[in-house]
Amino acid sequence: MGARVTATTVAIVGAGPSGLTLANLLHRCDVPCVVVERQSIEYVRQRQRAGVLEYRARQMFQEWGLADRIIGGASFDGVLEFRVDGQRRLLAYADEVAGRAQCLIPQQVVVQRLIAALVEAGGDLRFNAAGVAVHDVDGPRPRVTYRSADGMQHAVECQYVAGCDGYYGPSRMSVPPGVMREYSYDHGIGWLTVLADASPPRYPLIAISEHGYAGQFARGPRASRFYLQCPPTDDVAAWPDDRVWEQLRLRLADADLPTGPITEKRVLEMRSAVFEPMSYGRLYLVGDAAHVITPIGGKGMNLALYDADMLARALRGCVREGSGQLLREYSATCLRRVWRYQEFARWMSEMVHDAGDDSLAGPFRRQLARARLEAVLTVPATRRMFAEYQIGVA
Ligand code: APR
Repeated sequence: MGARVTATTVAIVGAGPSGLTLANLLHRCDVPCVVVERQSIEYVRQRQRAGVLEYRARQMFQEWGLADRIIGGASFDGVLEFRVDGQRRLLAYADEVAGRAQCLIPQQVVVQRLIAALVEAGGDLRFNAAGVAVHDVDGPRPRVTYRSADGMQHAVECQYVAGCDGYYGPSRMSVPPGVMREYSYDHGIGWLTVLADASPPRYPLIAISEHGYAGQFARGPRASRFYLQCPPTDDVAAWPDDRVWEQLRLRLADADLPTGPITEKRVLEMRSAVFEPMSYGRLYLVGDAAHVITPIGGKGMNLALYDADMLARALRGCVREGSGQLLREYSATCLRRVWRYQEFARWMSEMVHDAGDDSLAGPFRRQLARARLEAVLTVPATRRMFAEYQIGVA
């Protein structure tokens, strides 16, 4: 039985934040596209990950006429709490950037709204796609093939493929060896990440002490994402709920920390990777398919949205305006930002990890990290730099 063939301009592999944003932006400028996703719509709508959108992302959605739809009334007052050895130090960095704050919004809310907007605009979204494969991106007519849930084979013929399928997806894997250079770095640190139905703190909270890093961030009005520094080799089995709460109370120096049912527990390795260039032939990588960053600083989703914005502009240039300039510059444009924010994440990671438990970095680096933190809190130029990276205008 032959494959069912669809012709489009852009085949998008993956319906995470990258793929869904790209598809919405392409719709706004009348560039036809089809999104092919391995998971079910329910799975994608419920997947909990990031929770902060940069000011830059708000501006981007505004420019594309989608801010009300996607961001709605979400906001953030631009205050962070550092709890250093139990002492509360507030950093009101929004003052440094004239109120251009980020917004706190759980990723799944953004994803749900992106899906709804796309469906309403008549978008072609295909979930439950098995065996997705990318073909012929080095020629004029690439193809994405997959099998739908009813067993039918499909081929999406296109002019461009957007690989929005995350770090392990098939898009980058279809590139011949030696074309892209991989830069990767293992920070040697683990984070236990815990999602719980527990009241969030007034301000995003970063705790530094000899017991190791801990953090607490809002994920909606009644849920919190917690992080606890741990050996990267730790298994979640080593972290029963009682130990999680006991360590959080200790590291956050809060004996009355509100608790609640834990809904997710995972160990993350602090790992970074960048693939250069972010394109090959007619394949363009977007978001985690091209780079992964440590969660510190909340930049993963924001870098993905930046790439999607740049690629949408570039494809609009090619398809609607007859200019390939932006598409030729796509990889270099994105990578400038990717490296800048990798550097910020690393800078911040050293600050919050080295300043606490000094068994990894040693006492000298501990003092350096504490001096860095003090500068962020008290030196106006450093605070301003920190603020600009936080809101995503650096
Ligand atoms: N076929 C089709 N789709 C696939 C395949 C495949 N073989 N493999 C993965 N995918 C899908 C995943 O199911 C997922 O929906 O690609 C999507 C990739 O989404 P993400 O991994 O979230 O990557 P991206 O959209 O680039 O978002 C990046 O968002 O969650 C935050 O901070 C996080 O850095 C991350 C950022």
